[in-house]
Amino acid sequence: MLALCRRMLTAAQQQVRHFHRTTQASAGGLFVHRDSPDNNPDTPFEFSPENLKRAELIMKNYPEGHQSAAVIPLLDLAQRQHGWVPISAMHKVADILKMPYMRVYEVATFYTMFNRKPVGKYFVQICTTTPCVLGGAGSDIILNAIKENLGIDVGETTKDGMFSLAEVECLGACVNAPMVQINDNYYEDLTVDDMHRILNDLKAGKNPTPGPQSGQNWRYSSEPKNGLTSLIEPPTGPGFGVRSDL
Ligand code: FES
Repeated sequence: MLALCRRMLTAAQQQVRHFHRTTQASAGGLFVHRDSPDNNPDTPFEFSPENLKRAELIMKNYPEGHQSAAVIPLLDLAQRQHGWVPISAMHKVADILKMPYMRVYEVATFYTMFNRKPVGKYFVQICTTTPCVLGGAGSDIILNAIKENLGIDVGETTKDGMFSLAEVECLGACVNAPMVQINDNYYEDLTVDDMHRILNDLKAGKNPTPGPQSGQNWRYSSEPKNGLTSLIEPPTGPGFGVRSDL
C-alpha cells in the first residue's frame, strides 16, 4: 500500500508545472568569481578614449563625493565595450570611482544584467516568471522553441558564438507575455512561430522588428491589448487625500 501511494505521489508530482523556481545559472554562471585563464585580474581591459570621456560625463551627473553612484552605468559601459565584464574591468571601474574592489564586486555579482563570462553576439534572455509562464503561448513553450532552434540549453552559447541563452526573472513586460529580450530589444506577445522567425532572421543577418509581435505596435510599453484598464482618469492635483489640517 505504501509503495502504491509512493508511486501515485511520484506520478502526481510529474504532472506539476513549477510556476516559480529559482532560474538556472545564466550567462553570469556562479555568483562568485573564480580566476580562470580568460578572466583574472590580468585580463587586459582599458576603457577606449571615447568611453573614458563618456565615463567622465556620467560621473558629473552625481554630486561631488558621491561618484560611486555611477558604478552601474560604468559597469554597463565596460560591458558594451568589451561584450562582458571581466574582473579586470571591475577593478578599472573601482579605480576610476575610487571605490574598494569589493563594493564593485557586490554590484556586478548581484545584477544579472552584468555578464561575467563571454556571451554570444545575440544574448537571448527569456523571462520565465509566473505571468510569462501563464500568458499567451507560455514561456516554457517558447523556451523549448528557442532550445530547438539554437540547439543549446540555458546557460550555453552556440558553437559559432552567435547566440547565448539565459533564463531570467521578470523583465517588466508582463502584460505582453510571453517575451524575450535579445540584446537591448524586447520581443513580446510571442508565439512559437514568431520565436523561430525572429531567431532565423537574426541568423540571416536581418533586424527583426522589436516590440509586440501581435501587430499591435501602438503599444509602446507593457499595456493591455484592449486598452488601458487602470489609471484612466485625469490625475488628481497636489494635496489630494491629504488631511485638511496639515
Ligand atoms: S513576468 Fe515576464 S516580463 Fe514580467
